[in-house]
Amino acid sequence: MEKTAPIVELSHVEVNFKKKAGLFKKADYVNALHDINLSIYPGEVVVLVGESGSGKTTMANVIAGIVQPTSGKVFFKGTQVPKMNQEQREEYRSRIQMVQQDSYASLNPMRRMIKTLGDPLVIKKYSDKKNVEEKVSHFLNTVELTPPENFLQKYPHQLSGGQRQRMLIARAISMNPELLLADEPVSMIDVSLRVSVLNLLAILNQRDNIAITYITHDLATARYVGQNGRIAVMYLGQIVETGNLQEVLSNPQHPYLRALLAAVPIPDPRVARQPRETNIKTMEEIEEGIPHGCRFHNRCPYCKEICKEKKPVMEKHGFSMAACHRIAELPPFSLYQASRKEDNHEG
Ligand SMILES: Nc1ncnc2c1ncn2[C@@H]1O[C@H](COP(=O)(O)OP(=O)(O)OP(=O)(O)O)[C@@H](O)[C@H]1O
Ligand code: SF4
Ligand SMILES: [Mg+2]
Repeated sequence: MEKTAPIVELSHVEVNFKKKAGLFKKADYVNALHDINLSIYPGEVVVLVGESGSGKTTMANVIAGIVQPTSGKVFFKGTQVPKMNQEQREEYRSRIQMVQQDSYASLNPMRRMIKTLGDPLVIKKYSDKKNVEEKVSHFLNTVELTPPENFLQKYPHQLSGGQRQRMLIARAISMNPELLLADEPVSMIDVSLRVSVLNLLAILNQRDNIAITYITHDLATARYVGQNGRIAVMYLGQIVETGNLQEVLSNPQHPYLRALLAAVPIPDPRVARQPRETNIKTMEEIEEGIPHGCRFHNRCPYCKEICKEKKPVMEKHGFSMAACHRIAELPPFSLYQASRKEDNHEG
């Protein structure tokens, strides 16, 4: 894709939160994001993948301006966020919209859909009061809640999970966004409805050129949504590998991503019968706060002394940018999987 100026750019972003009781024992803060560099361009799909607590939602909140970085810079269309004037600030708030995981919590239970969707349109002067029903109907049609008149007077509890999620998407696109941040948008809805919501995101991307940042812990939906886009794999607040999604997932470099892929069930009975569990330690086994050196070192099967002492930096490896001292020494991924199989067999 030919690159124009990014919609949003994060440069060396750091976010520290005050510690939640019992999560990390030594540190009195959680370093939720560390040295994040990421640009999102018009019309592109970027998938953020990582397990729970890796910082995905914090990243989305920083991009949307909901969380201020502890240090580092965020730019919207080339202007640093704190230096924007009122007009730029309003544009920033409208052009970047979030679709959250929990549609029930995100919609006011006391408000009918015509109010939920209509009021922001009137407030933002995208519609006058007279035409608001027509405008709202247009957005309901766009998200395939049809016929719209069946939905205008409904309360959130009268909708299914999939319909509520579409309602959130309708509310987001009614603000004429250039970037939609979809944070686990299908994880709380019925499996049978997931694909249609993900397809809706793809339509908004391809037909309306809305950039999508899709956030998930699930590699299967990441692959589905990001087939023409980029992936950024997050681990404990850092991006550890990034690049074109198809290429990165076919040729993963970082041991964490390799372990995630080795653990993903594949719908082929011959492959599914092979042992595919990872030998990385679980997140709960990290009790001592954020590790020095490589943050993954106390879970990594390839850890050596250097990993405990020196932080790896992002470098080009194959089709990816990845942060690991030992990538050059690791076997190709197919051999890696075979050797993992032997390890499991022997163990
Ligand atoms: N407001 C907050 N106050 C304190 N700690 C927070 C806050 N928000 C997030 N954290 C911590 O920051 C880290 C990253 O959290 P975040 O919600 O961004 O992760 P995530 O990747 O979205 O996880 P999940 O997949 O569970 O949604 C976690 O350790 C979390 O407990
Ligand atoms: S730097 Fe070392 S510990 Fe970190 S992922 Fe690479 S091999 Fe594993
Ligand atoms: Mg989250």
